[in-house]
Amino acid sequence: MKIAGRTFVVSGGASGLGQACVEEICRQGGHAAVLDVNEENGAAVVQSQPAGAARFFACDVLEADSVTAAVDGVAAWARETRKPLGGVIPAAGVGSPATILDRDGAPFDMDTFNFVVDINLRGTVDLVRQCVAYLAKADLDGNPDGERGVVVMVSSVAAYDGQRGQVAYAASKGAVASMALPMARDLSRYGVRCVAVAPGIFDSRMTAAMPPKLLTGLAAATEFPRRAGQPHEFAQLVRQIIENPMLNGTVIRLDGGLRMPSKI
Ligand SMILES: NC(=O)c1ccc[n+]([C@@H]2O[C@H](COP(=O)([O-])OP(=O)(O)OC[C@H]3O[C@@H](n4cnc5c(N)ncnc54)[C@H](O)[C@@H]3O)[C@@H](O)[C@H]2O)c1
Repeated sequence: MKIAGRTFVVSGGASGLGQACVEEICRQGGHAAVLDVNEENGAAVVQSQPAGAARFFACDVLEADSVTAAVDGVAAWARETRKPLGGVIPAAGVGSPATILDRDGAPFDMDTFNFVVDINLRGTVDLVRQCVAYLAKADLDGNPDGERGVVVMVSSVAAYDGQRGQVAYAASKGAVASMALPMARDLSRYGVRCVAVAPGIFDSRMTAAMPPKLLTGLAAATEFPRRAGQPHEFAQLVRQIIENPMLNGTVIRLDGGLRMPSKI
C-alpha cells in the first residue's frame, strides 16, 4: 500500500515509536492521526509536521467511547481531506514492572496487571476492531490486489524472553504477537493485512524512565549494533510493512539480535 494520499491512525503517536511512525507517514506524503492521552506532547508532534499532515485526537485506549469518538473523528477528517484510511498502528503502551511475588512473598496487585493488559492488549484490540470496520469498507481505488488496509501492531521481545518482573507486560505483548495470524486470517477477505513488530530496546520516553543500569545492560546485550534502536529505525520497518503486500500474518523481531536475560 502506498502511504502517500492515505490517512493512518497511530495510537501513542505523541511519543517514542508512535511519534516516529507519525513523522515517517507525513514524510511519505500521508496523513497521520495522532491518538494519545497526552495532549501537550500530541500537539507538539502535530505542530512539527508539514501543515495539515497530522491531527491530534484525544484518546484513552482504556475507554471504548473515547476510542470510538477518536476513530469516528479520524474517519470524518479522512473524508474531508479525501485521503482515505489506509491503516492503523496501535502503539500506545505501558510497562509497570512487578514480580508476581514481592520480597515478602506477597502476590502482586491485580490492578497493576489489569492496567498493563488493558492498555497494551485490550486497547490494541479495541482500536484495531474499530478501525478495520472502516478499512473493510474502503474503496479499492484500482489496487490490483484488492488491498484495503494494513494493521501494524506493536508487540515486544518480552513476548518471547520476558525478564523478571515482566509477567504482565509479557502477557500483553505475547497476546499481541499471537493475534497477528488469526487477525490476518479474519481480515484477508477484506484485503486487510496484519503484522506485528516485536522491538528490542529502543530509545523513547518509556525507556528513558528505566533505571540507567537496565537500559545500558540491555543495549550491551544487543548483539549488533550494540546500542538501543532509534525510533526512526522502528518507523522504517513500519513503512516497509505498509508498502510490501506480501508481509502478512507474522511477527517481525526488530532487536539487533537481543535475547533478553532473566535480569540485568
Ligand atoms: N521503547 C522500547 O524499547 C519498546 C520495546 C518494545 C516494545 N515497545 C512498545 O512500543 C510502544 C510504544 O512505546 P514507546 O517506547 O514509544 O513509549 P512512550 O512512553 O514513549 O510512548 C507511549 C505513548 O503511549 C501513550 N499512552 C499511554 N497510555 C495510553 C492510553 N491509555 N491511551 C492512549 N495513549 C496512551 C503515552 O501517552 C505515550 O505518548 C508500546 O506499546 C511499547 O510497549 C517499546
